[in-house]
Amino acid sequence: MIKELQQPDGVLKVTASGPLSKDSPYNRIVLRKTVVRGKTVFQAEMYTSTQVFHSNVQLTDAASWASRLEGNYKQICVSQPTCDVTYLTSKKGVTTRIVRATAAKNVRPEQHNRVKKYILNEGDDVPAMVDLGIFTKEGKVVAGMYDKFRQINRFTELDDVLKNHVGSLTLLDFGCGKSYLTFIVYHYLTNVRKIDAKVIGYDLKADVVEDCNALAAKYGYANLHFAVADVSRDKLYEEHIDAVLSLHACDTATDHALAFAVKHNVPYVFSVPCCQHEVNGGISAGGGDLDVLLKYGIVKERVSALLTDTIRAMLLEDAGYKVDVLEFVDLAHTPKNVMLRCVKTGKPSDRNAPRIKELIEKYRFEQTLYRLLKG
Ligand SMILES: C[S@@+](CC[C@H](N)C(=O)[O-])C[C@H]1O[C@@H](n2cnc3c(N)ncnc32)[C@H](O)[C@@H]1O
Repeated sequence: MIKELQQPDGVLKVTASGPLSKDSPYNRIVLRKTVVRGKTVFQAEMYTSTQVFHSNVQLTDAASWASRLEGNYKQICVSQPTCDVTYLTSKKGVTTRIVRATAAKNVRPEQHNRVKKYILNEGDDVPAMVDLGIFTKEGKVVAGMYDKFRQINRFTELDDVLKNHVGSLTLLDFGCGKSYLTFIVYHYLTNVRKIDAKVIGYDLKADVVEDCNALAAKYGYANLHFAVADVSRDKLYEEHIDAVLSLHACDTATDHALAFAVKHNVPYVFSVPCCQHEVNGGISAGGGDLDVLLKYGIVKERVSALLTDTIRAMLLEDAGYKVDVLEFVDLAHTPKNVMLRCVKTGKPSDRNAPRIKELIEKYRFEQTLYRLLKG
């Protein structure tokens, strides 16, 4: 019994690690006391080997979390203001409770909504954002542009991954469109982080590319360039590239961005896929468990989109990336809300490819990234 969670007011953090069952969905669970919109809650972080899921847990639900954790992890550490309590559970189910006094800890929970510095903050002086229609002249977010503002700020992930990077950086943005993200990333890297950055945006639309180049010139953004290109077939920048970005690049343009990153050994990839028609257009019942999910149009469409992103993530893993599949922004702000955050950490393998091949053959669909990398 983790009795501390029956009285959660005095608990700062709970860390459960070492699952005792191989069927456990999570390798590690961390409950961290935090304040969200003025209310004290635990923020739960649940780690699988490839993903991390987040949810907020009300203090009144802490006891039910205790029963979910106890007996299921080798080690559960409960951090309190003046002591740490550790529960060690053996494979035979015997639990030992160890209390260790500590120096007094800061009992004020983190103000979760205030600590993070986003890449774009309301009130920042970024004149290009006014031209792009994100900010008013007074630095307020334009009504109607909040969704885009939130989406751009989700790329603060970029900062988390790049913070240890030393030297100059080159980033390519695939399907940059009006280039809100491209501009703010360039501004952030060069003016805020003072990194020698070069950013190139590619899009099919010549008029949009022309406008973006004019805006970059207007603000003296010397290393921000835009080019008209079909990323599925045109020759793109071939020198050293540090990161590939894609934000809602249409349908299979995302696959071309990912394939480009793999083929050019790009260390970081941040991709938020867009509308996905390819798998949905081809997939059909194959006599397996998936059949039931293909019966109703809207379910089939959603399953196809999820399957597409799963296949992309698995192929990137095979290419040697550590892939996190993250919620992009709240579903209320966009239905296209999966982000693939990928960091090249290892060597290519064929670990996932056979499973994907089996699915593709059984359910008879095409998937562009699979074709580009394995076809
Ligand atoms: C939905 S918009 C997203 C624009 C921008 N990234 C954003 O989030 O605001 C998708 C963009 O991808 C571009 N696009 C689609 N297919 C492309 C391709 N094959 N090559 C280059 N750009 C492409 C479109 O022209 C469009 O501007």
